Amino acid sequence: MEFVDQLKSSIDIVKVAGEYVRLNRVGTTGQYRGLCPFHQEKTPSFNVNQPRQIYKCFGCGVGGDVLKFVMEIEGLTFYEALKQLAEHNGIPMPKRSEYSDAETRLRGTLHEMHALAAQVFQDGLRSPQGAEARAYLAKRGVPQEMIETFGIGFADPAGQALLRRFSDRGFAPDQMEQSGLVRRRQEGSGFYDTFRGRLMFPIHNETGKVIAFGGRAMQDDQQPKYVNSPETPIYRKSSVLYNLHRARDTVRKQNRAVLVEGYMDVIGAHAAGVREVVASCGTALTPHQVRTMHRLAGTVVVNYDPDAAGANAAEKAIQLLLDEGLHIRVLTLEGGLDPDEYVKERGADAYRARVESAGGYFHWLADRARARFPKTTEGRMDAFKFLLPSVQKIHDKLERAAVANDIASYLGVEPGVVLDQFKRMAAERRAPAPVEARPASVIPPMERILLGALLGNDEARAEVLPRLTPELTEGFFTREIFEALRHVNGLTGPAAFSALEARLNPPAQGLLHEVIAADDMSGEESSLVQARSCLRKLHAGLRKRQIDDLRSRVKIAEREGRMEEALGFIAELRQMEKQSREDAGE
Ligand code: GTP
Ligand code: MN
Repeated sequence: MEFVDQLKSSIDIVKVAGEYVRLNRVGTTGQYRGLCPFHQEKTPSFNVNQPRQIYKCFGCGVGGDVLKFVMEIEGLTFYEALKQLAEHNGIPMPKRSEYSDAETRLRGTLHEMHALAAQVFQDGLRSPQGAEARAYLAKRGVPQEMIETFGIGFADPAGQALLRRFSDRGFAPDQMEQSGLVRRRQEGSGFYDTFRGRLMFPIHNETGKVIAFGGRAMQDDQQPKYVNSPETPIYRKSSVLYNLHRARDTVRKQNRAVLVEGYMDVIGAHAAGVREVVASCGTALTPHQVRTMHRLAGTVVVNYDPDAAGANAAEKAIQLLLDEGLHIRVLTLEGGLDPDEYVKERGADAYRARVESAGGYFHWLADRARARFPKTTEGRMDAFKFLLPSVQKIHDKLERAAVANDIASYLGVEPGVVLDQFKRMAAERRAPAPVEARPASVIPPMERILLGALLGNDEARAEVLPRLTPELTEGFFTREIFEALRHVNGLTGPAAFSALEARLNPPAQGLLHEVIAADDMSGEESSLVQARSCLRKLHAGLRKRQIDDLRSRVKIAEREGRMEEALGFIAELRQMEKQSREDAGE
């Protein structure tokens, strides 16, 4: 068996996808459903089919096998996904790297360089040169255990340490430049380290590989306070959440993520026992990051800094979270403290208690709105109207009405006014009607039924496929799948499926997944009957097309005075019509 098949047969897509998406079982045939991690949605249309070992989203159309899933969700090449799945499941990879390509090799090298850099920075913190940094961490109350857990390090102030290690290890200048960890000198030749004399926080991807760094200044007057890695082939700022790989399991289990602003906040919360904490780190929260949280959990506790900048960022974050349909709680810590400071000053238990009791976001928003408008009747009304668009984003009708009433009474607005506004909202809502309609299948019913029958039943395939000549499937929308099917005939079970899939181009793969996902795996016998019946209809259809074709040839020949030719066609036509009647009669 080829390695890919061997790997696929020893892992379960439900388990793999289940690490990224909360999946619920539907029915008894091994089907699972959850929110699609590949597009924004509020109702689950992401399906995982356990018997077939494939996934399919009816919302955005993506689908494939477990390898494709890992490739797409982690942004990996085929080889990297293979390697990752093999490593995670303790399956040794074959030595020859036949799947590896230039891009894969570069990314592999960049991962190596980052792992090495993390080591170099950590060594730097332990070295005599790191004394000042160690003292700084001690002053900020970061215990040794957290320094190790988070792999905190210190970058050589002279900007040579990393460069030297890279050169020793034989990395090429081009690779060094692409890593973003060293820079080319403006004048003269050679390189220097990007991070110098800074406290270093490694940033990991979801699987725990170091892909970037954040470097904090050690002096208050040193600007900027943080320097982050530039974007590289392994680091896309907008899609990374700091600490996600450590928080992931807890986020999923608790069905909740705690969102903070900075590295130090993550470390403080984690040390306080809040393990489901992540940060967007410096950049404004992106839809990609929100979606990442949503595929793991239903609730996000927003715990940004209590200053004006933090509150503005929180307000923007809340809108994004609302758009995604997440449940939101807001935690504003008293005393003007950010999470890190709060843990230090009030203790771990106090912080955990505050996370547990974090309130709904509407009162928080309402307080913000109230502060923005005058305390007159009109002012209160304006505050209410200001909040309405957010209310409108609530999916559930009853919850929407409840929240609106709640806000109205909180702000002291007449209930009658609320009703008015709601009627207006409902009218506006009806007008453009942005329905999340499931796209109708593009596959003609006959092809869908026949494919479903052939794929679902080995016997049907053995009997019907040989009689299904290319002539019969010529005009098919799914012709490519039928052609591939002819090639893999003889194989049975999941092996047939992966061999089949391997022969198809991505668009045809998509069609294949659609057929399989729609397949309800009804009785075995009916598949054979369905396949036979489809074959009969196809034969009849082909005959009819041939007869029509002959008739028009006869006409043309007659019109152009080629009588002999016309008579020949007529004889052929008679023969065919006779055959057709016989077929119908049998
Ligand atoms: P401390 O100030 O040491 O407590 O760190 P912090 O992590 O709490 O930082 P702060 O609350 O000031 O900022 C939150 C996050 O924003 C930081 O963790 C960084 O990721 C990011 N950030 C802050 N300042 C800068 C900056 O000057 N440049 C960049 N690129 N990011 C920054
Ligand atoms: Mn801070």
